Amino acid sequence: MSDSADRVRIVEVGPRDGLQNEKTIIPAATKIELINRLSATGLRSIEATSFVSPKWVPQLADAAEVFAAIDKNPRVSYPVLVPNLQGYQRAREVGAAEVAVFTAASEAFSRKNINASIDESIERFKPVLDQAKADGVRVRGYVSTVLGCPYQGDVPVTDVVRVARQMHDLGCYEISLGDTIGIGTPLKARAMLRAVASEVPMQALAVHFHDTRGQALANVLNCLEEGVRVVDSAVSGVGGCPYAKGATGNVASEDVVYMLEGMGMATGIDLPALIETGLWLSARLQRETSSKVARASQ
Ligand code: HMG
Ligand code: MG
Repeated sequence: MSDSADRVRIVEVGPRDGLQNEKTIIPAATKIELINRLSATGLRSIEATSFVSPKWVPQLADAAEVFAAIDKNPRVSYPVLVPNLQGYQRAREVGAAEVAVFTAASEAFSRKNINASIDESIERFKPVLDQAKADGVRVRGYVSTVLGCPYQGDVPVTDVVRVARQMHDLGCYEISLGDTIGIGTPLKARAMLRAVASEVPMQALAVHFHDTRGQALANVLNCLEEGVRVVDSAVSGVGGCPYAKGATGNVASEDVVYMLEGMGMATGIDLPALIETGLWLSARLQRETSSKVARASQ
């Protein structure tokens, strides 16, 4: 394998996916310190927060304050979630240079999460993509519920392929395929990825697994074998979507990095520093880390 085939980019989503789902409000200072600590681990992509409606996600109502205060490491990209042009403008006011738009493969989840149909969400993204292009801002795209929906049940893979392709055609440089409620199993995950990769180049795809049923790491491995080289994960295994019934944490970044190192695949991440950051966060959240690698290090 060539060097690039052995290199995996981790997109750390803990500060956003992780903290959006906490029951108690986490102080902005803790979020800022978390991102600054993560920035020192060698991560290249850290999703910092989201500029959604604060009525919908009160936990991240401090997005502007947090984003403005973090130390911006020039080697790190700090994407933020935006659901519409209003969110994009709020993100730009504090200098965001990369954003992520998000929709779903399931109509039922789309309505619950963003109060819009899939087609309506795509319409909302068009002005965001246009403005981002004019501003030189990179746009990532998420497709949720790619392996099942808490409201609709099964999600046809043809729907996943269609929405991923639409997002790519719109100009998203990368499409992250989200198993929002951690319901997928490895062979299904791999088949879904293969189907999407028949319409969107594999280099423009990422995988995003929640670990609700303990399948996430196996799903990641199967998708790596299929050729994906971008993996979303969250330090300490935090995560979950408040509008996805039953969703729990993302696959833990520490566990993904440990597995990749064991496979001889480079991430550029300092694993002990990542473990330390995860343990620091779990102490702040007053619960045990969900990372098995971190637990084994204690
Ligand atoms: P809506 O209520 O239909 O919106 O919500 P609206 O356009 O009618 O506006 C209603 C109010 O919200 C107005 O304020 C707007 O100004 C305000 P009011 O006049 O009532 O005072 N508003 C905003 N305020 C701040 N920032 C904004 C914004 N937009 C409108 N950007 C909306 C529609 C999309 C805004 C709402 O449904 C929303 O914010 N949803 C976000 C839900 C969310 O964040 N979910 C979690 C992230 S997705 C996820 O976790 C999955 C992922 O991890 C991948 C995976 O795991 O699958 C990415
Ligand atoms: Mg998620």
